[in-house]
Amino acid sequence: MTDLDIRVLDDAHYRAAHTLFRGTLHHGPAPDERWEVARTSYEPGRALGAFAGEELVGTAQSFPSRLAVPGGAVVPMAAVSRVGVRADWTRRGALTALQRAQLRGFREAGEVAATLRASEGVIYERFGYGVASRFREVRVVRAQARTRVPIAGRVRLVEAEPAGALIRSLFERLSPGRPGTIARWPGWWNLNVVDPGEGESQRFAVASGPDGDDGYAVFKVTPGSFETGSEKPTVLAVLDLWAASPRAWSDLWAFLLGIDLVGEVVAEGRPVDEPLEWLMVDRRAVRVTDVMDETWLRLVDVEAALSARAYRPGPSVVIGVRDRFLPENEGAYLVGSSGAARTSEAPDFVVDVDVLGAAYLGDVSFGAMAMAGRFAADRPDAVARADALFAVDQPPWCGTFF
Ligand SMILES: CC(C)(COP(=O)(O)OP(=O)(O)OC[C@H]1O[C@@H](n2cnc3c(N)ncnc32)[C@H](O)[C@@H]1OP(=O)(O)O)[C@@H](O)C(=O)NCCC(=O)NCCS
Repeated sequence: MTDLDIRVLDDAHYRAAHTLFRGTLHHGPAPDERWEVARTSYEPGRALGAFAGEELVGTAQSFPSRLAVPGGAVVPMAAVSRVGVRADWTRRGALTALQRAQLRGFREAGEVAATLRASEGVIYERFGYGVASRFREVRVVRAQARTRVPIAGRVRLVEAEPAGALIRSLFERLSPGRPGTIARWPGWWNLNVVDPGEGESQRFAVASGPDGDDGYAVFKVTPGSFETGSEKPTVLAVLDLWAASPRAWSDLWAFLLGIDLVGEVVAEGRPVDEPLEWLMVDRRAVRVTDVMDETWLRLVDVEAALSARAYRPGPSVVIGVRDRFLPENEGAYLVGSSGAARTSEAPDFVVDVDVLGAAYLGDVSFGAMAMAGRFAADRPDAVARADALFAVDQPPWCGTFF
C-alpha cells in the first residue's frame, strides 16, 4: 500500500473534502451558497481525509444517527457518506486505510453499527458491510390510477416555511421505528428540505385525521406533455412519504394520484411491502420498475448489536463471526429467543461479519446466503434454527437517502 496519512479533518479542510468528493462523482465544486448549506452537515470529528504528504486525495464522512432494530430497540449508528478517492489515487489502498480508521473510530466512540448507500455493489462487503434492506421504485400511470378508497381525512398543501418544522416532527414520530428506519441529523434536513437548492421546487402535502396531522408527502413535478400517452409526460416524483396510519397513507396516495395535468407518478425508495397495487382499482396502473439494495449495514459491535435485537421463539444456535477489520468482534455468539451473548461454545456455523450484517434486520435468511455459497453450512439444521430466530414480521426499510 502507498504511504498515506489518515487524519481527522477540521473546518479548514471541509470544503476541499466536499469538492474532492463531488469530483469523484463527476460533479463540479458546490457554488458558495450551496456550500453554506452543505457545511452544516460537517460535524467535528466525523470527516476523515487521506493525505499524500500535505495533499488531500481521499475522504470519508459520517453523520450521527440511530437505527431501529427488530423488537423496537434503537442503537447508535454512524451514517457513512461522501466517500471518495481522487481518480489519480484510486486502487492504491486509500479507501481501505480510510475504512480501517473510520471503523476503529466508530468502535471507540461506542457506535453499535454503521450504514451507507453504495455507489457500486462491489466496494463495501470487503469492509464488513452487507445489504440489510432493499427498496423499490414504482411508476404509476395516472390516467389508469384510481384508488379503491376516496380521501377519508383531509390532505392540504403547505408552504415550505411552516412545512419544514411540521414534517420534521411528523417524521420523528415515526422514525426510528420500523426496523431499518433511522434518525435524520440537522444537516440532512438542511440539505434536503430546508434548502434543497435552486431549481428544486418541492411541494409539501400534509394529511390529517380526527386526531390531527398524521402523515406527509414531499413531491416535485417536472413539467412535460399533458397529453395522455405522451412519451414525455409531466412527472410527479414522490420524494418522501410517511404516514402514521393506513388512512393517512391511502389519503396521501389518493391525493398525489389525483393531481391534475400529471402523466406519471414515480416513487423511488419505497418499502418493498408497500401495498400500492392493492390500493388501486386496476393494479396494473402500478409498475415496479426497480428493486435495489438500500441499507448496507456494518455491525461495529457485534455483541451489542446481537443483544439489542429481539428474536422469535425457538431453539438456540451458536454463530461464529469472522471480522478482518475489527478483530474484537471475532468469536462465537449464542443466540436464543431470550437474547444473545458471547459464548465459549463451538459455533454451529461461521460467517463473515458482512453476512451477519445482511441477515441482522431479517431481510435475507442465512439459508438463502448459504445456498448462494456465502458461508459453509455443514449443519443445515443449525441454519434453519438461526432463520427461525432471526425471522421478522415486516421487511426492514430505511426510507432516508444520504
Ligand atoms: C470507490 C472508491 C472510494 C475506492 O477507493 P480506492 O482507494 O480505489 O479503494 P482501495 O484501493 O482501498 O480498494 C480496496 C479494494 O477494493 C477494490 N475496489 C475498490 N473500489 C472498487 C470499484 N469501484 N470497483 C471494483 N473494485 C473496487 C480494489 O480493487 C481493492 O481490491 P483488492 O483489495 O482486492 O486489491 C473510489 O474508486 C472512488 O472514489 N470512486 C468514485 C466515487 C464513489 O463511488 N464513491 C463511493 C460512494 S458510496
